[in-house]
Amino acid sequence: MLLTQSKIIVTGGPTREWFDPIRYISNASSGKMGVALADEAYKKSRDTVFIHGPINEYYIMDRPYRCVPVESTADLLAAVLAELSEPCVLIMAAAPADYTPVARSGEKIKKSDGDLVITMKRTPDILKNVAEIRKSRGLVDIFVAGFAAETINTEEYAVKKLKSKSLDMICLNDVSVEGAGFNTDTNIMTIFTAAGERIELPMQSKNLVAENILRQIEIGLSQRG
Ligand code: CTP
Repeated sequence: MLLTQSKIIVTGGPTREWFDPIRYISNASSGKMGVALADEAYKKSRDTVFIHGPINEYYIMDRPYRCVPVESTADLLAAVLAELSEPCVLIMAAAPADYTPVARSGEKIKKSDGDLVITMKRTPDILKNVAEIRKSRGLVDIFVAGFAAETINTEEYAVKKLKSKSLDMICLNDVSVEGAGFNTDTNIMTIFTAAGERIELPMQSKNLVAENILRQIEIGLSQRG
């Protein structure tokens, strides 16, 4: 399986989970890492698609690849499954919300004197869904790279996610370190592969990080034969 002959699906940005017509739960992901990855992916394969949550439109202005906007984690799951085919590489840099409000009010919730309690339920885990589909349909020509944004026990959690989400590779960033993580122009990554390798990338621009991640994916694909 060659990267140049594969479809590359990149996801990026946050998702939004609305609880009334004007308010939502989200996170601080800017989508910059996703855009950098999609830009690099397109240099390798013209069949690149970038599925993104709500991000600054300026970041994807005039991009030559297809951009698919989504809003909620459920939308993101549907869009990823719609694009999944063989051979393909899925680079899951999005930061989907893990919880969504149980109820969405049709009207603006008015304030009262007491506290506001919003009950939330779990959203689907997209990578676990992909792993199940790969297994049940016997899809072998799919390579999946996940991301882990952690603040404590970083390597332990990343390796756990590599296994529990059946990934081929996971890119860890310690978001508590300056120069790494959300809404910055640089990142510091450690890549772990299913084959047991550990590759450290120094602090560098998100573009350079993306280039290195694509290079590691290419190496991973070549090891598959
Ligand atoms: N991810 C996913 N579906 C979700 C949440 C996350 O597919 N509902 C993906 C992310 O895109 C990322 C990886 O799973 O590639 C790890 O995401 P992260 O937010 O670090 O971990 P979670 O699985 O959400 O676990 P936790 O929040 O407990 O750390």
